[in-house]
Amino acid sequence: MFNKKTIKNVDVKGLTVLVRTDYNVPLVSAETAPEGDFEAGLLAEGERERIASDLRIRASLPTIQYLLEKKAGKIILISHLGRPKGMRDASLSLRPIAEKLAELLPGTTVNFVDDVSGPEVEMAVEDLPEGGILLLENLRFSADEEGNSESFAQEIVDSTHAELFVQDGFAVIHRAHASTDAITKLLPSVAGLLLEKEVTTLSKVVEHPVRPLVVVIGGAKVEDKQPLIDKFLSVADTIYVGGKIAADGYTSDNAKIIVAEDFDEDGAGAKLDIGPVSTGKLVELVGGAKTVLWNGVLGKVEDPTYATSSTILAKTLGENPDIISVICGGDTAGFVEELMESESELRYSLISTGGGAALELLSGEPLPGLDGLEDI
Ligand code: 3PG
Repeated sequence: MFNKKTIKNVDVKGLTVLVRTDYNVPLVSAETAPEGDFEAGLLAEGERERIASDLRIRASLPTIQYLLEKKAGKIILISHLGRPKGMRDASLSLRPIAEKLAELLPGTTVNFVDDVSGPEVEMAVEDLPEGGILLLENLRFSADEEGNSESFAQEIVDSTHAELFVQDGFAVIHRAHASTDAITKLLPSVAGLLLEKEVTTLSKVVEHPVRPLVVVIGGAKVEDKQPLIDKFLSVADTIYVGGKIAADGYTSDNAKIIVAEDFDEDGAGAKLDIGPVSTGKLVELVGGAKTVLWNGVLGKVEDPTYATSSTILAKTLGENPDIISVICGGDTAGFVEELMESESELRYSLISTGGGAALELLSGEPLPGLDGLEDI
């Protein structure tokens, strides 16, 4: 059960609400963008960045729309983007996110101000009409954000005249930063709808899964995934290990763990996807499951030749409404999202917006951005 207050427990009418989102979206920069992006008009000549996935932006809409419906006064959004190390970096400005939000919320005023506190912000808040949205600049342009500085958080509160804090940036709740931790000591603080949904769904998989529960682990770094495997040894019915971890020779003598055994190789013998035998076994395994948690792609999916097993798994899950399917991890979520662009009928119970946060929640690590919110 979710034991924190949410926006549904508060009368938000007329309040100035400060919402922490996670708009740390993947960007394609002009230097690395494929030539085709220019030709397709996705990136104009001279333009610096393009949002490569808007999953996190779209995921923030239910909370924003709820606040608008309930006639919150002014909605101030805050987020970080990238790791600018306390320095201003034009390539990590949140301005393009404000433009995207304006596109997604037609009829709503969406303004942007290139600071997080001070006179410019005060003026931007004053100019914002009731029912309008103001996105502040990247919090991490100040080192005080990651320093969890209470005075930095206080400056934001003073400049915006916020009366309520809403944490909706699920992907950042594993960080103890000014906008996730210190700020909760200054304002009444409740959860947004994305945070509630992600925490409820992911916690249920660990605490009360509908069985059989199959956990599929892929990806490249065994040190990142081992805590998840350890955690699920006592929870899952079966753990299936594929991806580069399996290709690099992961072994276990635990009867619950199945490791992929055949691989598709390139001309030089590099194992770049799990092979047909392993894929077949995996499809059979998840076909008999009631809950499947998938973290980590099964091959080198950026090359379509080696995306076969991940595509088959994504389709098996997305086409079966009887399986509770939870997709987590940045690469896995990105892969599934991209597949859904061409296969629009695919449906999942949750595509988590949190990479590190989801892993830490599932592994039972503390989550400072959640802990500081008011208990129900
Ligand atoms: C993420 O993308 O996982 C979150 O936005 C957190 O970002 P960070 O790892 O830079 O703190």
